[in-house]
Amino acid sequence: MTVQVEVVEAVTAAFVRHELWPLYRSVFGDFDDYEAWVDGVWARHSARRGFRIALARTDDDLAGFAYGYTGEHGQWWTDTAASVLHPDVASDWLGGHFELVSIGVAASARGASVGRRLLGSLTDGLEHARWVLMTSSDPVDPARRLYRSAGWAVIGPGFSTDRVIMGRSWPAT
Ligand SMILES: CC(C)(COP(=O)(O)OP(=O)(O)OC[C@H]1O[C@@H](n2cnc3c(N)ncnc32)[C@H](O)[C@@H]1OP(=O)(O)O)[C@@H](O)C(=O)NCCC(=O)NCCS
Repeated sequence: MTVQVEVVEAVTAAFVRHELWPLYRSVFGDFDDYEAWVDGVWARHSARRGFRIALARTDDDLAGFAYGYTGEHGQWWTDTAASVLHPDVASDWLGGHFELVSIGVAASARGASVGRRLLGSLTDGLEHARWVLMTSSDPVDPARRLYRSAGWAVIGPGFSTDRVIMGRSWPAT
């Protein structure tokens, strides 16, 4: 399988409707309704400062995506993270950080380094001193293992017992 990965700072509405949404839904399944996802999540996230998205394409299909933006105090995720992390950790890590919001690879394309390439491309060249995300608290979860192998470490609890917050400090060796 030949896969090309590119990073862009904007995508068209047609791409979101006909390519990104079907893949997002198949990977996460947390929204049944396109409008609910666009209005409740995508429109807000994609308008944020520092937004970028990495896209992995085969000849025929979108095989994966990863996106994030600059997280700021006053945003729900950052403020909730600040309330669960140790205050000194929150002070060190939050506000002006790069927030990795979502990464997903089509089930048929997994295990072929697409996720690793998406993560590497999305964060390549970032000028943020701190990168932050939330993921599974299960150390053998595929995403958790991917992040660890790319230099991320747990910095505290997540918003529920099955989640943790991970961070990576730039530059990493
Ligand atoms: C997590 C995900 C993006 C990984 O994508 P992928 O293309 O399959 O991953 P890669 O092939 O690039 O693997 C990179 C690393 O991830 C980890 N990994 C991937 N699949 C794994 C699995 N089934 N079991 C354990 N570790 C796994 C490994 O550390 C792997 O490195 P290795 O091959 O050297 O062992 C993909 O499984 C996915 O979309 N999962 C569902 C959505 C999700 O959980 N997103 C993250 C939310 S926080």
